[in-house]
Amino acid sequence: MKAILLSGGSGTRLHPITLGVSKQLLPVYDKPMIYYPLTTLILSGIREIMIITTPHDLPQFQRLLGDGSQFGVEFTYRQQPSPDGIAQAFLIAADWLNGSSCALALGDNLIFADGLSTKLQEARQRDYGATVFAYQVRDPERYGVISFDDNGRALTIEEKPEIPQSNWAVTGLYFYDRRVCEIAANLRPSDRGELEITDLNRVYLEENSLHVSLLGRGCAWLDAGLPDSLMQAGTFVQAIQSRQGMLVGSPTEAAFRMGFISLEELYARGKSMIKTDLGKMLLHLAENYETPSASYSQ
Ligand code: DAU
Repeated sequence: MKAILLSGGSGTRLHPITLGVSKQLLPVYDKPMIYYPLTTLILSGIREIMIITTPHDLPQFQRLLGDGSQFGVEFTYRQQPSPDGIAQAFLIAADWLNGSSCALALGDNLIFADGLSTKLQEARQRDYGATVFAYQVRDPERYGVISFDDNGRALTIEEKPEIPQSNWAVTGLYFYDRRVCEIAANLRPSDRGELEITDLNRVYLEENSLHVSLLGRGCAWLDAGLPDSLMQAGTFVQAIQSRQGMLVGSPTEAAFRMGFISLEELYARGKSMIKTDLGKMLLHLAENYETPSASYSQ
């Protein structure tokens, strides 16, 4: 399986901040926002990742992330000339995907959950259909919304409905089988002129192959696209890291846990950032690592 990390758009809900810098490069506490969904993809066990962003922002992403070797993965970069919809990512990446199954992560979504790694691996290993992750929110009308019948089967999926059928929002993390590009190619733009990810998901739902993984009470899903949610995300990460001494959203740690980088590489990464708490925590992890931790789960 390959993955797309979608990091385009114009970030209008964060103007004027995003007039000067891409939203997905803004800090969420001590790391750039894109590190968080990147960590999620690495924890899924995916090593070939395409980063799609605007022509204007692409050089900054390349400067930050390089070729991926620091995380034991391989990055490919591509431009999305204008934000014509999330599902357009599959048209942009079609030749690169070349019939492979594909995960998609939105560059402004942060998921932190106990047991997430297991759910991610399950989704990656599914050969047929699609998997989405749903999370209960107070304001479902801001998101893609999924509803269920009495047996818990997905019934409807709608994008930003005025009258939501449930309070289960669809998060910005999706896993698709090898048919995804073909399905995306048949989508038509919505009334707002975008190729909607929700329309793509509806095709899977209508053929009964949309798996919905529910993120429960102990999970945090934050979409850092507004001033308030950006601040909340930073505060959340700071609270966990300083209270528990555990990193949230470190692709370096995830790469190490997944066996993508060695203990020596982890040690070297920590040392290279020794002036920061992040570097100290990586170093601490390297120095105290003994056996794979069953409890590592974000
Ligand atoms: O955050 C989850 C939600 O993301 C889902 O519940 C919705 O179903 C999905 O449509 C999306 O809703 P948003 O209102 O958050 O979409 P937005 O247009 O803000 O795009 C989400 C991210 O994707 C954003 O960081 C920018 C990026 N993007 C978006 C579009 C439309 C692109 O890179 N290119 C695009 O063409």
